[in-house]
Parts: sequence; C-alpha cells; structure tokens
Amino acid sequence: MKSIFAEPAQSELTVRKINVLRSPKKGGSSDMDAIPYIEELGIQIFRNIQPIQFTPNINEHIHRWAPYVQGFSASFVQSILDQYKEDYNYPVVLDPFAGCGTVLVQGKFNGYMSFGTELNPFLQFIANTKLNCWDVSPNYLLRVYNNLPRNNRSSAPSFLKSSSHFNKEILHNLEVLKGGIESLEEKNEKQKKVKDLINLAFSSILIDSSNLKRTPCLGYCKNKRVYDTAPFVLLDKKIREIANDLKLIQSQYKNFINTESKVILANAMDFEHINKFDLIITSPPYMNGLDYVMNYKIEMGWLGFAKNHKELKRIKDEMVVCDNVSKGLIKEFCRSGLTYSNDWIEKIKTEIVWNIEKRGSYRRTDMPYIVHKYFDDLYKVMKKVIPSLNSGGRFILVVGDSLIADVYVPTDLLIAKIGLDLGLDVEKIEKARERRSGQIRSYKLRESIITLVKR
Ligand SMILES: C[S@@+](CC[C@H](N)C(=O)[O-])C[C@H]1O[C@@H](n2cnc3c(N)ncnc32)[C@H](O)[C@@H]1O
Repeated sequence: MKSIFAEPAQSELTVRKINVLRSPKKGGSSDMDAIPYIEELGIQIFRNIQPIQFTPNINEHIHRWAPYVQGFSASFVQSILDQYKEDYNYPVVLDPFAGCGTVLVQGKFNGYMSFGTELNPFLQFIANTKLNCWDVSPNYLLRVYNNLPRNNRSSAPSFLKSSSHFNKEILHNLEVLKGGIESLEEKNEKQKKVKDLINLAFSSILIDSSNLKRTPCLGYCKNKRVYDTAPFVLLDKKIREIANDLKLIQSQYKNFINTESKVILANAMDFEHINKFDLIITSPPYMNGLDYVMNYKIEMGWLGFAKNHKELKRIKDEMVVCDNVSKGLIKEFCRSGLTYSNDWIEKIKTEIVWNIEKRGSYRRTDMPYIVHKYFDDLYKVMKKVIPSLNSGGRFILVVGDSLIADVYVPTDLLIAKIGLDLGLDVEKIEKARERRSGQIRSYKLRESIITLVKR
C-alpha cells in the first residue's frame, strides 16, 4: 500500500511535522527506553549531574587560548583525575579524540604525561601549541608581537568566501596581520614557538571578527556588528591573555613545564601506540553531532591547514562517522562487509528501516548504516587502544545517546557492551547531563560517563 507520507518534495516540511506530532516518543525519555538494555547488561545508571561542556574553560588559564565548543570542561577532567589519584602514581593519560587538548592540558597541570590522537590538523596544532609553549618568555612574545610587520599583506584563502565572511575593511586588516605573522622567522625552536602562539591567537579571533557565529554550528549572524579595527583589538587582547598565562605557569607550574605531552595527527582507528596508559579519558564525536571539519573551515583555511574543499572532505571522511557524511562513504562501508556488529545494533537497524518505510520519507534513508558504521568506528578505536591500557587501567568515555526515526539508540550502553566484548569490565555508568532530542523536542536524551576497567 502506498504510504500517505510519500508526497512530492515541497510537502517535505509538513511530512516532517506530521511525523513529529505522531511520534510515539513524544514526552518520552531515554531513561525509560534504556531499561531492557540495562537489564540485559545487569548494571545500573547513577545520576552524577555536572558541567561537562567546554564553556567554563573561557575563564581557565591556557584552556581559554582558543575557543572550542565541543570540548570538555577542564573542571570535569580534573574531577576524574582527582577521583583516581590514589589508584595510580602519576598516571599516563591518553585521549584518542584529543580535540583542542583539554584532557592533555589538564593532565599536564597535574604533572602527568599525556598523549592524544586527533585527525583535524588545525585542532592538533591548537592542542600542541597549548601543551608545548609553556617555556616561552612572555616578554619575548610581547616584543615579537609588538614588532609585527604591517606592510606585508597576505591574501585570504581563495577557496573560502572570505569577502562575505568578513566586512571589507576587516578583511584588509586580517590580511595585514596574516602577512605580518607569515613574515616571522622560525629558524630556531624559540622563534617557532612564538610564531605558533601568535598564529593560535590569530585563529582564535577569526570568528569574532567575522559575520559568522558558531553556536555550535557555523552560520551567518544577521545583525552582528563588528568594528573595522576588531582584528587588531582582539588580537592584542588575546596575546596579552596568553602572556599573562605564561607568566602564571612559569611561577606556579614550573616543575611541569617539561612534562611530556603531545597530540599526534593520526586516525585513532589505526594508530599503534608505543606508550602504555593508566587512564584513557575521552569523548568521541556524537552520532548526530557536529562536523569537526566544516565547523573549523575558516581557521583551517586562514592558517593553511586546508587549501580547498576536497582536502576538507578528505579529512572529514576519515573521522568517526556522523549523520552528514557523504552517501558514497556509507555505500562503501556497506560494500566492505568487514564490520563489527552485535544483536543490539542489528535490532536497532531493523527498527530504523521499518520506521523509515512507515514514514515514507526521512532525512537520510541510509541512516541504519550510518548507525552501524558509527559503532563499527568506535569498536575499531577501542580495539586499538585497549591493548595499550595497563591492567587496572580505566577507560572513561563521555557520550550522548540518540533518537533516530523514533528508534532509541543507547550509545552509552552499546559502548559498554563493546567494552565487554573486548575484555573490559563495566565499573559504572553515570548520567551527567540531560539533553533534548533534535527531532522530538519533548524526548529527553542522556549524556553519560562510562567507566570501563581492565582487570
Ligand atoms: C568531542 S570532540 C573531543 C573534544 C575534546 N575532549 C576536547 O575537550 O577538546 C571529538 C574529536 O575527535 C576528533 N576525531 C573524530 N574522528 C577521529 C578519528 N578517527 N581519529 C582521531 N580523532 C578523531 C574530532 O576531530 C574531534 O576533535
């Protein structure tokens, strides 16, 4: 029988609305829908509501150097480190999805060696600059910055629509700053570190100087007013903030300046670690989450980490999948056949297929395979890092669950199940935050902290 929802494209919006109105998930919650999975795992979920998001970091030394919406709060990472400080003597820490390096920076503040992998070269640069410039003299930084040449304009990245991203005079001023930074010498490590710090500061003012906003996705902001001199004023402020933080580090954390910490530009799914770790603290991308490449394309373009859209797409295609990847990538995944699965994933896939058929229309009909690839990607990462976890070591993940075509996907519990398959024990799962589903606003989702342990 022909579905009543199989209408032409112009009625798409109405079909969507009808689906929302008729959804059996209205007013529901993942806590209720998780019950059968929780029972099968034989565990409980405890409430441990706390701020885990990046926002408070804008007031934290070093963490505040670069704005990043999808990161951890430093205080959350510290709370984990405090929780286990009696269990390990100076633990070695890993974050396979390092982002802008929150876990590693906080680890270094405690004197712990910390390592990470990250696929976005811009984020890897930010993290490493935050980790490895602690010995730069604040006065030297200020001196180099104050003498930045202003007669060396360098063009905006040609593949970005810079003239619509920035007002004309602002664009000119950014090009003047870019030219000045590019002309700085980097003949030795000291010069290179200062140039990295100024480049980091420059990247961190781009969105504030533009007609864009990131909340958390990058988009135009209609009524934003930016003064022509904004790039100079903002860069000046940022450099002074960095200089102040360096002063503080060099007085209060001087013993930890040389503690080894680095993020490697690598795919966590296939990187071989040579170190052994006591704590893996991480947050993978969320399935219906953000695009960690397109969201940073402005910074990536201006700092030369991507020269065209093809390069951006290549980086994105290697990442743990999210729901706006290319259809070709998912087709390739289905063709490959070599994938991890389990009975929960298969059940969820089947239910999504049914529901999409019932609806007659859905944002993406390949959604069941996106879900499958997401868990296959996470399995690959977990399989790769677990052998480098010391016995007694903990693997702590923060993740949010999803609702897809009215099917509940218990991401935290599925990760726990994968952990069990790979020989870990589930120590605890805590609910850290409640979120609203993007599809059915009245449906409450969960953000959890999963603690797995290697016995
Ligand atoms: C939720 S963010 C982590 C943020 C981090 N906790 C912080 O505070 O900065 C996930 C990160 O994983 C990265 N990523 C995605 N797939 C990856 C992969 N296969 N290998 C390494 N990094 C990856 C993304 O670029 C993104 O920066």
